[in-house]
Amino acid sequence: MKYRHLILGAGNMARALIPGFIQNSQDCEFLVFTPSGDKAKSFADDFGAIWVKDLEELRNTHIDYLWACFKPQQLKQVALEIDFLTHPYLTIVSLLAGSDAKALTEYLTTDQIIRIMPNTPAQVGLGVNALYKTKTVHQDKWGAFWQAFNTSGINTVFENEDDIDTITPFSGSGPAYFFEIARILIEDMKARGIDGALAHQMVAGTIEGAGRMISKNSDAETLRNNVTSKNGVTYEALESFKESGMEEMFNRAIERAYQRTLELKGSK
Ligand SMILES: NC(=O)c1ccc[n+]([C@@H]2O[C@H](COP(=O)([O-])OP(=O)(O)OC[C@H]3O[C@@H](n4cnc5c(N)ncnc54)[C@H](OP(=O)(O)O)[C@@H]3O)[C@@H](O)[C@H]2O)c1
Repeated sequence: MKYRHLILGAGNMARALIPGFIQNSQDCEFLVFTPSGDKAKSFADDFGAIWVKDLEELRNTHIDYLWACFKPQQLKQVALEIDFLTHPYLTIVSLLAGSDAKALTEYLTTDQIIRIMPNTPAQVGLGVNALYKTKTVHQDKWGAFWQAFNTSGINTVFENEDDIDTITPFSGSGPAYFFEIARILIEDMKARGIDGALAHQMVAGTIEGAGRMISKNSDAETLRNNVTSKNGVTYEALESFKESGMEEMFNRAIERAYQRTLELKGSK
C-alpha cells in the first residue's frame, strides 16, 4: 500500500469530491470517520473505504493524508481529538471554507497543506475547484494527489492563497445562486399553469445549455445580445433587470459573501 488517507467528515462535499479521487487512486487505503457514524458507514459502503468507528482505533496507524471535510467551526475540536495522529509528514487536504494554511498548520501541527475550495457540481463530474498548496508539500505527495484529483471538472491551483477567498463567493457559493434562479423561474412557470416536472426540465435545460454556450469561450455579453432584439420580449426582461439594479445587487451580494469569508477566517 502506497498511501493511507483518513477522511474526517462525510457530508455533502466529501461525497461530491472524494469518490472520484478514490476511483483514480491506486494502492491507497481510505479510512473514514464521523462522530455519529452513520454518514461514515454509508460513505464506506458506497465508495469502498473503511469505516472507523472510533478514532482511538488509529492510535498506532500511520496516516499520510488527512482530509478535513467537517465545518470550519469544528477545527479546534477536531484538532484536540486527533492530536495523536498528526505528525510533520502528514499532508492535510482541507475543504474548510474559512481556514487558511496558517490556521490549519497551527491546529494540525503540519505545514503540508493542500486547500480546496470545492464546488458542488463535482457530484456530477463538473466541479470548478480552486486549490492552493503550501510550498512545503512534498513533491511526491503532491504529485500523487494531483494525479488522482485532476481527472474531471476544472481545477486551478492558485499561487496566492488570498485568491481562494476572492473566488469563494463565485465558485464555492456560485451553484446556490443558479439554484435560486432556477427555483424562482420554476415557481413562476408553475404559477402560470405549466406542469411542475416540465418547468423543472425546461429551466434545468436552459441553464445547462446557456452554460455550455459560455464554455465554448464565447463572450457572455455577445451571447446575451444575440438573444435580445431591440424592443423584443427578452429586451423587456433585461430592461426590467437593469431598472431593478441587478448588476449592483449581485456586486453587493458577492462583497457581503467575501466579507463573511474574511470574518470566518478571523474568528478562529
Ligand atoms: N457545501 C458546499 O457547497 C461547500 C462549498 C465550499 C466549501 N465547503 C466546505 O466543505 C466542508 C464540508 O461541508 P459540507 O456541506 O459537506 O458539511 P456537512 O454536510 O454538514 O458535513 C459535515 C461532516 O463533518 C462531520 N463532523 C462533524 N464533527 C466532526 C468531527 N469532530 N470529526 C470528524 N468529522 C466531523 C459530520 O459528521 P456527522 O455526520 O456525524 O454529523 C459530517 O459528516 C465545510 O468545511 C465547508 O466550508 C462546502
